[in-house]
Amino acid sequence: MDKILVHGGSRLKGQVMVSGSKNSALPILAATLLTKEECVIHNVPDLSDCHYMLQILNHLGAQVERASGTVTIKAEKIVTEAPYDIVRKMRASVCIIGPLLGREKEATVSLPGGCVIGERPIDLHLKGFEALGAAVRIDAGNVKVLAPNLRGTTINLRGKFGPTVLGTDNILMASVLAEGTTVIDGAAAEPEVVDLANFLIAMGAKIEGAGTRRIIVEGVKELHGAEHEVIPDRIEAGTYLVAGAIAGDEVTLRNVVPEHLHSVTEALIKSGFRIVTGTDQLTIFGNGKAGPLKIVTEPYPGFPTDMQAQMCALLTKGQGISILTETIFPQRFMHVPELKRMGANIEMEGPSAVVQGVERLSGAPVMASDLRASAALVLAGLHSEGTTEIHRVYHIDRGYESIDDKLNALGANIERVKEKSGA
Ligand code: EPU
Repeated sequence: MDKILVHGGSRLKGQVMVSGSKNSALPILAATLLTKEECVIHNVPDLSDCHYMLQILNHLGAQVERASGTVTIKAEKIVTEAPYDIVRKMRASVCIIGPLLGREKEATVSLPGGCVIGERPIDLHLKGFEALGAAVRIDAGNVKVLAPNLRGTTINLRGKFGPTVLGTDNILMASVLAEGTTVIDGAAAEPEVVDLANFLIAMGAKIEGAGTRRIIVEGVKELHGAEHEVIPDRIEAGTYLVAGAIAGDEVTLRNVVPEHLHSVTEALIKSGFRIVTGTDQLTIFGNGKAGPLKIVTEPYPGFPTDMQAQMCALLTKGQGISILTETIFPQRFMHVPELKRMGANIEMEGPSAVVQGVERLSGAPVMASDLRASAALVLAGLHSEGTTEIHRVYHIDRGYESIDDKLNALGANIERVKEKSGA
């Protein structure tokens, strides 16, 4: 297992190329199961989560080839059962249920457990499958979904924490091959859902309204192969923007869709940073301390929960008192105890972190717990004195392509070393 050592205090300057979006690529790869024909997906990030998804597709019978960022998949003959061993490594593997149900009218997939950012149920996915006419049964840790006929209907997918991204993806993928019209109300409007819808449309699906709270799907008899380029990763981009705010003289992100990052750039500008927006690039000028912010995470186009931990790392050394409130995953604050070990002054009040900016952070051994919390620790290390030693970095590698190399190319001083056994 690797650990990352961040030697704080370097200034960052230069350009960083943003990779393809993990959260777009995963459901898009799953959607290739909807056709027997070949699909070619470009800009697939080289991340462990994408490798897991390709292993799952392979297990289901698909032929998978990968050359650099391009993946070619042909799922001519598939089975419909994905056991625990193969899906347990990644919660997002639930998004194979929709395409299996759409194409084969059945799926047996091991149920995902909870995860450190919260309980993460899939009740809304299952409610959607049932509304389409499927029988859903939980048996021996598996969810079995069976639908001799999938029939279009109106489904409200909104839950108590708002819309569900993968739930919307799943119902979308099941309904494209259902009979008649499906209306998904309370749909997630994230750019990743729009990207999936665009791929499905390229495969021959009839979908309107992706990117709004109401998606309308007109079922078709079958889908064909298609070629698609995954959108840039707005969360990876946001993370490098925060790195630029923390330690950047001038950092330019290339291959971004600035509109997808609007709520993040708006917050950084409010905090006192200068950002210059180009067609597909953003430049941030770090200018010392961040001003205080009140951030509330919300579904897109609101401030993303996937950027809350990174903003927290920035504001720990900011001016005054900032408040970060989670409305999507109220327990998603695993970074807080670790940041406190580095000298941060943070108090939890229910689903809010109250951050009093401090003058100085000091590097410490810390534990990565989930993907974004881990990224926050790398960012905090950039403006800490001494060395921050981050353990369990496989969490970071799930969602960031070579974060150490990309930051080092900007001037950071980060090492990746093997943990001694027992560490
Ligand atoms: N929820 C339910 N029931 C469900 C589904 C969701 O109550 O059936 C709740 C969740 O517990 C949560 C809220 O609804 O409180 C929103 O969850 P959502 O379903 O939207 O999350 P997800 O689709 O499982 C995706 C991303 C997450 C991101 C969330 C929110 C992927 C692979 N994952 O998860 O990304 O935080 O949407 O935007 O797309 C990450 O990349 O670090 C990450 C965790």
